[in-house]
Amino acid sequence: MTRLITTIAEMRDIRASLTGRVGLVPTMGSLHDGHLTLMRRAREQSDVLIVSDFVNPLQFGPNEDYDRYPRDLDGDLAKVDGLADYLFAPSAEEMYPAEEPFQVDVGRIGTVFEGAMRPGHFNGVATVVLKLFTIIRPDIAVFGQKDAQQLAVIRRLVRDFNVPVDIIPAPISREGSGLARSSRNAYLDEDGRWHALALSGLLKDLSGRRMPAPELLHALEQARATSSTDVQWDYAEAVDPATFEPIDSSFTGDAVVIVAARVQGVRLLDNAEITVGT
Ligand code: PAJ
Repeated sequence: MTRLITTIAEMRDIRASLTGRVGLVPTMGSLHDGHLTLMRRAREQSDVLIVSDFVNPLQFGPNEDYDRYPRDLDGDLAKVDGLADYLFAPSAEEMYPAEEPFQVDVGRIGTVFEGAMRPGHFNGVATVVLKLFTIIRPDIAVFGQKDAQQLAVIRRLVRDFNVPVDIIPAPISREGSGLARSSRNAYLDEDGRWHALALSGLLKDLSGRRMPAPELLHALEQARATSSTDVQWDYAEAVDPATFEPIDSSFTGDAVVIVAARVQGVRLLDNAEITVGT
């Protein structure tokens, strides 16, 4: 049975009593099979698994979906049963008792792509993840490659603040159609789910391939030009996976193609690794 913990004090007490390697999978709940993949990966490398389930207000902009973000604590508890030892689900007041909590400033990487579309988002992500790391003191923490920029931010966070935790990436979990799993897919109707395949469809043609930079940049430019009312591209770019700086036409090496689009007003993200070179 997974044990539910809602206060920081209790989480700390329990952590102090644990022996062996402690794994953490941070989530915002409304769990789907993608989250479960992360938990299985964490289990392989830890003796005790803690999953956090917290819709973090700091990472939502004023006009974003914080209030309507799907929440289902009972459903989440049932899903993690047999997989996680503890589900840490504090309230917003428990995590942020101060009116204006201190926040981590992640700098430039927090201002490009998702950071440009969602100002302050990555500062909010880094702040809550740092708090989870100090409360839980995990030995390992698993993050999905689905949110590639978030993963890059967390790697920098751990490096720059000397947090003694191993960050383990987990591959993108997809539905049979190719659509990357996301809690926000719940906002789409059948038509929307079909249009959403534009993202994975574009990446499928590119992923795992080796392509010269000019050819790749041209393909992405063409993809962006297909914006319509059904699929509005926010970006489709090739970037350096560590810095998220766009590659130029002379680039060679490993890059990640990142795409974001709005379908039925829902922002969807996807990405794939690609080797750039002749
Ligand atoms: P959330 O969107 O709930 O995602 C939790 C974790 O699951 C993240 O590491 C995310 O990358 C991963 N994930 C989601 N969908 C995935 C998929 N289809 N395949 C693989 N991994 C997937 O990301 C967050 O929450 C928050 O920003 C958080 C890190 C918890 C901080 O609040």
